[in-house]
Amino acid sequence: MDTERLEITEKNIAHAGNIIRTGGLVAFPTETVYGLGANALDEDAVRSIYQAKGRPSDNPMIVHIADTAQLADVASEVPEAAIPLIQAFWPGPITFIMKKTPEVPMTTTGGLETVGIRMPENETARALIRAARRPIAAPSANSSGKPSPTTYSDVLEDMDGRIDAILLGEDCKVGIESTVLDLTGEIPMILRPGYITKEMLENALGSEVQYDPALMMDPTARENQGDFHPKAPGMKYKHYAPKAQVKILEGSDEAVQAQMEELKRFYHYQRKKVAVLDYGRDSKAAAKDFFARLRELDREGVEVILVHALPEEELGFSVMNRMLKSAGYDVIHV
Ligand code: TXA
Ligand code: MG
Repeated sequence: MDTERLEITEKNIAHAGNIIRTGGLVAFPTETVYGLGANALDEDAVRSIYQAKGRPSDNPMIVHIADTAQLADVASEVPEAAIPLIQAFWPGPITFIMKKTPEVPMTTTGGLETVGIRMPENETARALIRAARRPIAAPSANSSGKPSPTTYSDVLEDMDGRIDAILLGEDCKVGIESTVLDLTGEIPMILRPGYITKEMLENALGSEVQYDPALMMDPTARENQGDFHPKAPGMKYKHYAPKAQVKILEGSDEAVQAQMEELKRFYHYQRKKVAVLDYGRDSKAAAKDFFARLRELDREGVEVILVHALPEEELGFSVMNRMLKSAGYDVIHV
């Protein structure tokens, strides 16, 4: 199929909404990463997302809504803790897990009785949802396993010819996927760390928020041992992997830089093309840049990417979650 490239105009958004309403697939910008959208209430449409991505179908989708009025269409119960959190963070880069309504098909939730719901901040995204007059199920618009796309050209690299249309929006300003917060238990639990951090959530709630214990396991143990059971099904897959081999270096700035020089020499002797990613302590810049950079380095034919670890606190923890996955948990402590 030919993928329609749509500039952001009112007419094009209405057209894209029409495509969604009639069962088609449209990629669209959000503040986190580009999404690959379909009518969340239409099983066949949702199945075609799995197909376009080459994604396992037990992986639940996030359902995107345009306003709080739409919440009742997808959530059968809005937990008390959701009220201050919605107030503080929606529209924005956070997904809340709640009990689903019968209208949301199991195909959308990967067989779960719960549904992940997000109201994106990006205006184009919400205009599209309004134009479709349907909640929109959307995973990140990459082929399964590849880094999430944060520009429309990165979406087209994976999806050109596989989807009906793409809205040619701006580059994503956050750059990593939304925080996923499970609100169905006694204590809210972060299943996927993101731009909205544990500290921000606890401040807004005035009470404790937990991490899924699977997020806190020792990096080298995470993949290799049988006790890695993240509660968000999507967190267990190999993710964000560029063609290049990624290695994370962790330690003092001096030690890391010295080790990087040594490794660069070593790979040069092996005639391997090496790149270094060092964001210092700037987690925000790292979040915005990382996925796009992985794709760019792949296009340049880089074979090894050496990444200076970020401090694993607040947003740094969320970005490191992606960095570690892209490296297959290959960490060198210096
Ligand atoms: O920022 C984002 O969230 C982007 C944009 C497009 O909104 N979307 C995104 O979707 O990252 P995706 O499909 O790549 O990741 C969804 C994550 C997966 O880890 C999935 O397992 C988890 O959310 N998830 C969704 N619904 C869930 C549920 N009911 N229970 C537990 N985890 C859920
Ligand atoms: Mg994804």
